[in-house]
Amino acid sequence: RGLPSRSVFLRGCQASLSTAQERLGHPGVPTREGVRVATRSPRPYHEIPSPGDNGWLNLYHLAEEKGTHRVHYRHVQNFQKYGPIYRENLGNVESVYIMDPEDVALLFNSEGPQPERFLIPPWVAYHEYYRRPVGVLLKKAQGWKRDRVALNQEVMAPDAIKNFVPLLEAVSQAFVRMLHGRVQQGVFSGDISDDLFRFAFESMTNIMFGERLGMLEETVDPEAHEFIDAVYQMFHTSVPMLSLPPSLFRLFRTRTWRDHVAAWDVIFTNADKYTQSFYWDLRQKQDLGGSYRGILYSLLGTSKLSFEDIKANVTEMLAGSVDTTSMTLQWHLYEMGAALGMQEMLRAEVLAARRQAQGDMTAMLQSVPLLKASIKETLRLHPISVTLQRYLVNDLVLQDYMIPAKTLVQVANYGMGREPSFFANPEKFDPPRWLDKDKNATHFR
Ligand code: HEM
Repeated sequence: RGLPSRSVFLRGCQASLSTAQERLGHPGVPTREGVRVATRSPRPYHEIPSPGDNGWLNLYHLAEEKGTHRVHYRHVQNFQKYGPIYRENLGNVESVYIMDPEDVALLFNSEGPQPERFLIPPWVAYHEYYRRPVGVLLKKAQGWKRDRVALNQEVMAPDAIKNFVPLLEAVSQAFVRMLHGRVQQGVFSGDISDDLFRFAFESMTNIMFGERLGMLEETVDPEAHEFIDAVYQMFHTSVPMLSLPPSLFRLFRTRTWRDHVAAWDVIFTNADKYTQSFYWDLRQKQDLGGSYRGILYSLLGTSKLSFEDIKANVTEMLAGSVDTTSMTLQWHLYEMGAALGMQEMLRAEVLAARRQAQGDMTAMLQSVPLLKASIKETLRLHPISVTLQRYLVNDLVLQDYMIPAKTLVQVANYGMGREPSFFANPEKFDPPRWLDKDKNATHFR
């Protein structure tokens, strides 16, 4: 095939990498034939197990099984049937699915400094059709890299994150006070899903704009609530348009497309309003004596991004932060409710850390390893993103199959988290498994 020298190099290394890891006691998942084969001449792409090459027929079966909202179960079933790698054509999208951590490490090590991500088709369709500005979520190559470097500095670097702690602490205290108040008044129903959305949005806007929005008050700004509902609706209406071209949905003016557009419109209008209004506020304010004023202020001051690019990224961060964090918290509460012993251990750890830190919340966060492990455990069992996706930049050998450049490879997070050869007793909520450093589990941290 005239492979580029880099892929020949990778291919050569991979055979020895996988056998070495297996000797370390990190077993591979059996293939359909029951053994993991490691040879030096990889098998061709078309031999990767697959339910059949007719993407439209596969999609029909999926729709028949009402499977679009249950794809994570389908991944698990397919891995059981085909082994640790399979390919599937759904509609006009063909993907290779993997779940072995060694393969995932090879995939991410091969992606280079500008990963080629799968951009969610309905989001691209909306932004292109209505000419909306895009940030890191939908930008590519150099454009993505430039925005991402700016965001890394203000949103992800440890020095920036420590500024968030007092702002998040204030919202968390208010949230707990609100729930206690309800318990005392005898009006606590136990269902706090809506409150968790509001808590997440209040937390994010506080660190973004350095000001409270009042989402935890008795009466809430209807526009803020509208924003939260729109984010939910945007995710919800994306699912049917993942395997069929969104242009079809638009052409026939389907309900799904109209709701999707309406949701994004609300997200953009409200995010724009917030950003503009906080921007003017910030400009008019007196010097706050060096205290932290939020991500927006930092981006305006230090990054080289234009105001338009900052607004696009603020919109994406607001939209990306609400459901992800609140759903994870809800699953975390659910798991703790079902494992009372673990709940007690977590509580004891937090109380001891609080005593020791004497009010220093940053110090306290350094001494709660079990709590951090419990969040990882929640995400293992209930990953927000069922898969992570990348287009290969070079040919790559995975599980002894040659996968050509440009192929869409999906890491099945849910399937991996439920696989007993990687996680013993996978259905069990067992945070301490993440603290055991002695397990050769080098790919999980
Ligand atoms: C439990 C919480 C969260 C989970 C599980 C989660 C999960 C993810 C995943 C899996 C990706 C794709 C990464 C990739 O393809 O490499 C992603 C991207 C992204 N997330 Fe989150 N996320 C969470 C919270 C947040 C928050 C709080 C924000 C807001 C600051 C946010 C904003 C974004 C953005 C802007 C991207 C696109 C990044 C890029 O492509 O450069 N997420 N998230």
